[in-house]
Amino acid sequence: HLKALIGPSILNADLSQLYEESQKLLDNGADYLHLDVMDGQFVPNLTFGHPVVKCLRGKIKDAFFETHMMVEKPEQWITPMADAGVNQYTFHIEPVKDVIEVCRKVREHGMKVGVAIKPGTPVSEVEKYISISDMVLIMTVEPGFGGQKFMENQMAKVQYLRENYPLLDIEVDGGVGPSTINCCANAGANMIVSGTAIIGSADQAATIKLLRSTVQD
Ligand code: DX5
Ligand code: ZN
Repeated sequence: HLKALIGPSILNADLSQLYEESQKLLDNGADYLHLDVMDGQFVPNLTFGHPVVKCLRGKIKDAFFETHMMVEKPEQWITPMADAGVNQYTFHIEPVKDVIEVCRKVREHGMKVGVAIKPGTPVSEVEKYISISDMVLIMTVEPGFGGQKFMENQMAKVQYLRENYPLLDIEVDGGVGPSTINCCANAGANMIVSGTAIIGSADQAATIKLLRSTVQD
């Protein structure tokens, strides 16, 4: 049976208070933290890398950390992210020549492996790697920035995967919140990333609970 899990993205939080913001999300019921790593190459934006993740891990010992690697060379950061205490390494397959090798290396470093695709990438491209990964991420915005509009047309990919892989962990990311969670739930996503909708809400706990309960039933 698949679990509905809510992983807030801290991208649009006050990053000068990264620890406090992260702890608050966990106290408010987050199941895991979705940490958006951008390199200014794969996407036109820069965030943070393994040194910051390692500091956060120093203060938060037990939460599940997923890093969403929006980077040109995901193979380069596997060892440092594993050393930083990352639990799941989710990377985009678009710039990678040997996806199988990256998946293998991630697992060899003791992390779960997630494979991600941008809105323009067909689902068949990622389907090839399902047997060697733990999760598929279907992006519902062009990666790079928080606060963008949810792309409903990406739900066909989620639906296709759910129909064919009933036990697969499927994550959606981008523009997901109370007004778009129904689409995601109906299509069959079970791992829900939500940034601005949670960070900006007056009652984080209620928003997280609403997202989870919508996916669960
Ligand atoms: C986009 C990131 C997302 C995003 C989520 O490039 O991967 O994780 O920041 O934020 P919202 O929910 O605001 O789209
Ligand atoms: Zn993300």
